[in-house]
Amino acid sequence: MSSPRWTSDLATGNAAIDREHQELVEIIDQLKAAASGGDQKAQLSNALDRFRAHVLDHFPNEEREMEAKGYAGLAQHRLAHAALTESVCDLVAKDNDGQTVLYSEVDRLGQALYRHILLDDKPFATFLTKG
Ligand SMILES: [Fe+2]
Ligand SMILES: [Fe+2]
Repeated sequence: MSSPRWTSDLATGNAAIDREHQELVEIIDQLKAAASGGDQKAQLSNALDRFRAHVLDHFPNEEREMEAKGYAGLAQHRLAHAALTESVCDLVAKDNDGQTVLYSEVDRLGQALYRHILLDDKPFATFLTKG
C-alpha cells in the first residue's frame, strides 16, 4: 500500500501552486487512509468532499494563472482538469449513493493527480521561469 508523499519531484517552483499541491497530496493521503480502514464511512465522505472542494478551487486558480500568462497549453490543460474533476465527482457521487468507494479507486485517482502535477503542471512552471 504505497502512499506517495510530497517530494521535491512534485515542486513546480511556483509558491502558490506548490502550496495548493501540498494540500492536495495531504488530502489524497487522508483519503487513502480513510479508504483503507474498515468502518470509517464518515471520514471517507469528509475526505472526498474536501478532495472535490480542493480541485474545484485549485484547477480554476491554475487556469486563471495560465490565461494571465498566455500559456499555449491552456486548452489542453483545461481538458485534463475537466477529466480529473469528473473522476473526483464520480467518486463523490458513488459515495453519496451509498456505494462503497474502494481503496483501489482512490489510489488510482491519487496516482492520476500525481502524474498530472509531474507531467502537466511542471511544464507550466518551467514556462513561467523562462518567461
Ligand atoms: Fe495543479
Ligand atoms: Fe493542472
